[in-house]
Amino acid sequence: MHARITGTGSYLPPTALSNHDLVARGVDTSDDWIVERTGIRIRHLADNGQMASDLALEASLKALAAADITAGKIDLIILATSTPDYIFPSTACLLQSKLGVGGAAAFDVQAVCSGFAYALTVAQKFILSGSHRCALVVGTEVFSRILDWNDRGTCVLFGDGAGAVILEASDEPGILASALHADGSHHGILEVPGSVCDGKVVGQPFVKMDGPAVFKFAVKVLADVAHEVLDMAGMNAAAIDWLIPHQANIRIIQSTAKKLGLSMEKVITTVDRHGNTSAASIPLALDVAVRDGRVKRGDTLMLEGVGGGFTWGAVLLKF
Ligand code: UT7
Repeated sequence: MHARITGTGSYLPPTALSNHDLVARGVDTSDDWIVERTGIRIRHLADNGQMASDLALEASLKALAAADITAGKIDLIILATSTPDYIFPSTACLLQSKLGVGGAAAFDVQAVCSGFAYALTVAQKFILSGSHRCALVVGTEVFSRILDWNDRGTCVLFGDGAGAVILEASDEPGILASALHADGSHHGILEVPGSVCDGKVVGQPFVKMDGPAVFKFAVKVLADVAHEVLDMAGMNAAAIDWLIPHQANIRIIQSTAKKLGLSMEKVITTVDRHGNTSAASIPLALDVAVRDGRVKRGDTLMLEGVGGGFTWGAVLLKF
């Protein structure tokens, strides 16, 4: 028994914001700085009425169509987000309702930008246990809601979007190996240190980040965890057809590829057009590359994420 991706989908809200638009809005930055330091040119922003579950619904409907199944077949929904619609119920339950189905297990996973690697790995374990056969795994974010537009060190980096996959029990190989890690002692270098109490926000409900510290940490753990899953599968980096990393910064992606000995021609990048969409970035990039024909059935893919917590993880799979 294997757990195999049978369909992918993604969704970007229609409003696109260029680096020049940010300058025009009064952010103390420049197109040159953002492109040179991050590779980002454009990010998409959800409209005020669009919630994480709305973005997730659009991506999920496309993934269902690609897998050629109806929502009624899904027996598990795992949704990764750090920007849920509500404190509760989970965004997974709200998505289930919008899909018009009920009864299947549905829950959220909170691992920030590693969220999709976490969610996919959890879904894989459910399927390999034999308890479930058809999972909808989603990463969806409206990070624009938690940005301080006066903090140029963070507000230029993030965008909104969603990506989804259908993961089914299969006789054919799918996920070959996966590994998840966390080190909570680094929680302070990337956090939204706010909560709700007595009807008020306590603390700061905005992204706070020590960019250079996150950068150094990300480059190290992304290479380490990629080697870890390759070792688990008895493979080496030359076997990777496509590296699909979390899309935070083109320089982090280039460093990771270099450490793995992969040319950038084997790396899917969307950070220039999407910005950092946190838990949505990996499934968004995967879906873009599936739909433009680069990722084909039978290809070996390395998906990997790193983010707040600190969390990191990788999933090696046959597509
Ligand atoms: O999903 C995981 C989460 N996030 C990440 O992976 C992000 C990881 N970190 C990074 O991508 C980079 O650290 C950043 C892109 C955030 C920053 O790049 P950097 O090369 O590490 O710059 P820095 O923070 O060391 O700042 C360098 C300079 C500073 O000015 P001074 O002190 O040298 O005069 C900043 O104030 O750049 C300035 N700066 C900016 N200038 C123009 C910071 N943000 C901006 C900006 N526009 N948006």
